[in-house]
Amino acid sequence: MKHIHSYYSPNDLYNRIIEGLNEMGKDLSKITLDDLKPVDEFHIRSDTATKELIKLSRVTPEMHILDVGCGLGGAARRLSHETGCRVTGIDLSDEYIDAAERLTQLFDLQERVKFHAASALALPIDENTFDGALSIQMNMNVEDKLGWLKEVYRVLKPGGRAVLYELCGNKNTPVYFPVPWAQDSSMSFLVPPESFRDVITSAGFDIDVWNDKTDLARKAFADMTEPVGEPNLPELGTHLLVGNDILTKAYNLRRNLDEERVSLIETVAIKRNS
Ligand SMILES: C[S@@+](CC[C@H](N)C(=O)[O-])C[C@H]1O[C@@H](n2cnc3c(N)ncnc32)[C@H](O)[C@@H]1O
Repeated sequence: MKHIHSYYSPNDLYNRIIEGLNEMGKDLSKITLDDLKPVDEFHIRSDTATKELIKLSRVTPEMHILDVGCGLGGAARRLSHETGCRVTGIDLSDEYIDAAERLTQLFDLQERVKFHAASALALPIDENTFDGALSIQMNMNVEDKLGWLKEVYRVLKPGGRAVLYELCGNKNTPVYFPVPWAQDSSMSFLVPPESFRDVITSAGFDIDVWNDKTDLARKAFADMTEPVGEPNLPELGTHLLVGNDILTKAYNLRRNLDEERVSLIETVAIKRNS
């Protein structure tokens, strides 16, 4: 897991984001969630997908939700902002968690949205704690998917909904690397959608919603062409999170989607009332 941790460990991330915002001429005292989305919604279809997931989550203001693999916390802040709920985000990367906490203070959401560095495979949380859970494009880095989902199941209250938006394998192999979540195959653990579904039910969940979002992912990446020469990168973007070869990674993701090597699944799994 060490190499995955170092992949997601850029230096001085918070200050580089602030620099990017300054270069874009943003006034930090008037910053909006949308201003940050080029960097803090690190998943396919960005805030559009997050808003769809929020609808599926059926979250209400009194709930406390866990975001597993929360990254910089963009989805956690949006969920709390839109519903009034409390959110706790956990992520393997200390650098992301540090940035997540400091970015949350810019919106004065720190009382409702909190973060901790931890592994999804050993959540430092008591059982039956959370009313719901969210996990957005993290499973690709997790080999022990049953271990991760059992942890989510354990910390959810009975009846709790786990909303998952996850990349899976597809009919064809191998996957082209690098991709946004992995420099090479040693960091990537994709399973076909059917196996992903099986592991969710093996962890104890009932599946309530199962949507294949691969076509929408393909459309989102349709314009990605093979980069040539020095990359022309924006002030704020996911290159700050995973390196300046992000355009090559995005282009490879497009090829993987187009050639049916990767698929995208949105699902809601419910912990049965026992
Ligand atoms: C592609 S990013 C998505 C981040 C975030 N969910 C978002 O949508 O912006 C994958 C995230 O999963 C985290 N991650 C990978 N393996 C993990 C693990 N075993 N436990 C917790 N977080 C993990 C990474 O540190 C990274 O922040």
